[in-house]
Amino acid sequence: MTEAPRDPFGWLDEAADRRRDAGLVRTLRPRDAVSPLLDLAGNDYLGLSRHPEVTAAAAAAAHRWGAGATGSRLVTGSTALHAELEAELARFCGVESALVLSSGYAANLAAVTALTGDGSLVVSDAANHASLIDGCRLSRARTAVVPHADPDAVRQALAGHAGRAMAVTDSVFSVDGDAAPLSGLSAACRAHGAALLIDDAHGFGVLGEGGRGAPYAAGLAGAADTVVTVTLSKSLGSQGGAVLGPARVIEHLVNTARTFIFDTGLAPAATAAALAALRLLRREPDRARRVRTVAAGLYAGLTDAGLDAARPDAAVVSVRAPSASAAVRWAADCRAEGILTGCFRPPSVPDGVSRLRLTARADLTDADVTHTLKAITRTAPGARTQQR
Ligand SMILES: Cc1ncc(COP(=O)(O)O)c(C=O)c1O
Repeated sequence: MTEAPRDPFGWLDEAADRRRDAGLVRTLRPRDAVSPLLDLAGNDYLGLSRHPEVTAAAAAAAHRWGAGATGSRLVTGSTALHAELEAELARFCGVESALVLSSGYAANLAAVTALTGDGSLVVSDAANHASLIDGCRLSRARTAVVPHADPDAVRQALAGHAGRAMAVTDSVFSVDGDAAPLSGLSAACRAHGAALLIDDAHGFGVLGEGGRGAPYAAGLAGAADTVVTVTLSKSLGSQGGAVLGPARVIEHLVNTARTFIFDTGLAPAATAAALAALRLLRREPDRARRVRTVAAGLYAGLTDAGLDAARPDAAVVSVRAPSASAAVRWAADCRAEGILTGCFRPPSVPDGVSRLRLTARADLTDADVTHTLKAITRTAPGARTQQR
């Protein structure tokens, strides 16, 4: 009698059991188009995703250019919309050149892999976003992971490396919403002739004059040794990503970055929506200030209530929970009170501490903020102390 073949996916059941026992099961929850819940979980920081000018631009582009880009950017996937968006992004952020990719994730993979490579050194903040981490892994460079927000550690890691080197950092970190010390990091890089790559996913549209971003605010816009990535899916309410920097860097990416070359171009509708949102932001720069005010109001209310909130440097406000299961329960209780929050648990949190994560939006009213604070404090799992 022949033995029954081994189930090649049998191990998945054990992995699922371990996740369930640890309270770490993730499930998809399709949202309704119109919801009674107040959304503090999404990344639509400026409230532009549903702005009529933005959605009309997307619809018109789909009608004119088709639903998809039809090919990679170097074949049939580049349209006049892509070129316009690149030119306007570069002008707005004060850089020489911009390159639009299909996501911020792809933009980070492109920038890290194309600008480093075998024999080079990448110095990466311990709290960097997964897309930068994956860029380091794919780059074949030696990666030195340094303590969070520590320019001296970057300086030390760069010292003694003779070849090509680049430090990579989020401008605003996804988990606690704190800003990177960009000036110190830039000085550390310059002392060693290294490049600096800044992922401005959470700073673009929120920080700097009129939302021009964290590198702009730090005086690094247009610097010959600095490259910036942004996503079009947060402040611009669309989809896609971009790399911004010196023209020779962008030219190199067009010729070598695999997530640019071997990926279908950003869909025309998303490209046009991002362009319309960027024009709105230029016209209404106060949206950037408002989102920061809302974040500060949320933080003040949470800490006044004795909750362990992290001081936000941009739009992300996070509050610590005692455990992963407590965080899940807290988020569910908030939802029952009409508030949709994010819930960060391992492995999304590098320090293993679970959190509720709130994202401020420019279109939240003061009454929305009060309602949110009431719901969160009423459902909080016990009193906590200040975090930082
Ligand atoms: C810091 C950071 N970088 C990059 C990304 C990826 O951007 P996208 O969602 O456009 O792929 C995100 C998105 O969550 C992010 O938070």
